Amino acid sequence: MRSPEGQRNPLPVYRAFRELGDVVPAPWGGWFVTGFDLANQVLRGRDWLTPDIAWQERRPDPERWRAPATREMSHTLSRLNAPDHTTQRRALGNLFGRSTLEAVRPGVEEHVDTLLDDLERALLAHGEADFATVVADRLPIRTVGGWLGLAEEDHERILDFTHRQVFAQELLPTRSQLAVSEAATLEMRAYFTGLLRHRRAHLGEDVLSGWIRYWDEWHAGDREAADRVLYHLTMFVTIASLETTATLLSSSVALLLADPARWRWLREHPGHVGDAVEEALRHDPPIWLNSRVAAKDTVLGGVRVAQDSVVHVLFGAANHDPRHNPDPETFDILRGGSQLTFGGGVHYCLGAALARLEATTLLTRMLKRFPTLRAATDGPEYAPRMVFRRITSLKVTRS
Ligand code: HEM
Repeated sequence: MRSPEGQRNPLPVYRAFRELGDVVPAPWGGWFVTGFDLANQVLRGRDWLTPDIAWQERRPDPERWRAPATREMSHTLSRLNAPDHTTQRRALGNLFGRSTLEAVRPGVEEHVDTLLDDLERALLAHGEADFATVVADRLPIRTVGGWLGLAEEDHERILDFTHRQVFAQELLPTRSQLAVSEAATLEMRAYFTGLLRHRRAHLGEDVLSGWIRYWDEWHAGDREAADRVLYHLTMFVTIASLETTATLLSSSVALLLADPARWRWLREHPGHVGDAVEEALRHDPPIWLNSRVAAKDTVLGGVRVAQDSVVHVLFGAANHDPRHNPDPETFDILRGGSQLTFGGGVHYCLGAALARLEATTLLTRMLKRFPTLRAATDGPEYAPRMVFRRITSLKVTRS
């Protein structure tokens, strides 16, 4: 999966996994879950937990989990179980409900227009442009930056430490990757604790000020406890929104440009832009894998799984399960299929609606402004990752 061929075209990997079965042993212990129904069952089932700090401490190799960069992420929402997870999700509520989405929409539209101006300029100047770096990497940070009030001059720095911190969240990080991630973690912590300190001193009516008021009251008399929650929430919501959405934006454009007839068809049928985004989410999920652990001895798809064993849900393989989405390798905008790309159950992605808004706004406007856009190379370039897929370059041009 990490190889350049696997990154460029993961479909044979998904196929090979599925041929091995719905529950496949991992070489390092634990299991891969490859089928849609079982993946869904694991994500939603009460018998499955996220691998939290208590689980990490019970491992025979707790040192592996005590690396500072790994530990930092173990305090975030995605690695908390009840009751802490329930408390934090309840406090956040539906982050991007209808009224919030309507409030952020004009900002997203403005960012899209500005970034497409940049794309236009790059195409005029050089004949081709890198969509991934000029547009896709930038829209998510401008969007979440506008929503949380992150100063524009900090955006590059945030993107930079996010790309380096992510190694700690990879499946089997090497020591050197963990060292890179640790340095990024320190920068990230300095940035977000500074941001919160400043906002606390200038409370307003913004989202972050609301979170500060809430957690100060919840942890009344214990400012440190409030600050700890606030740091992990603000940091995680920000970084969770960046690479994931950027990858969706680039992969949607790459999949549509892979066949010029698709771009043309969607331009003539703009009412199906939302369907195209759903199909891109299904076909090429930005997160390949998510792990859960068994809360007790159980049987999964006929396989005995002992308590504390880890299972890796393979989103791509599950989305390409032909029992669920027939003819899964065909990119079909009108498929009306379903996917697990945003996870499921209590940890379901809090930013799904925002990511969809960014993708549909961008595609709608791009199709109008760049009717003859086409891929300038064979396809995108990828970072060699196993968990968070990242498109580092997508060269486009026009006829
Ligand atoms: C295409 C873009 C995105 C994808 C593919 C994606 C995918 C995911 C997945 C797979 C999960 C884990 C679900 C699980 O464990 O069952 C998740 C969780 C999460 N996502 Fe997203 N995400 C995206 C964008 C966003 C955005 C834009 C935000 C915030 C603005 C966000 C915030 C979060 C948060 C806070 C969680 C943790 C939820 C929890 O553990 O309770 N994500 N996301």
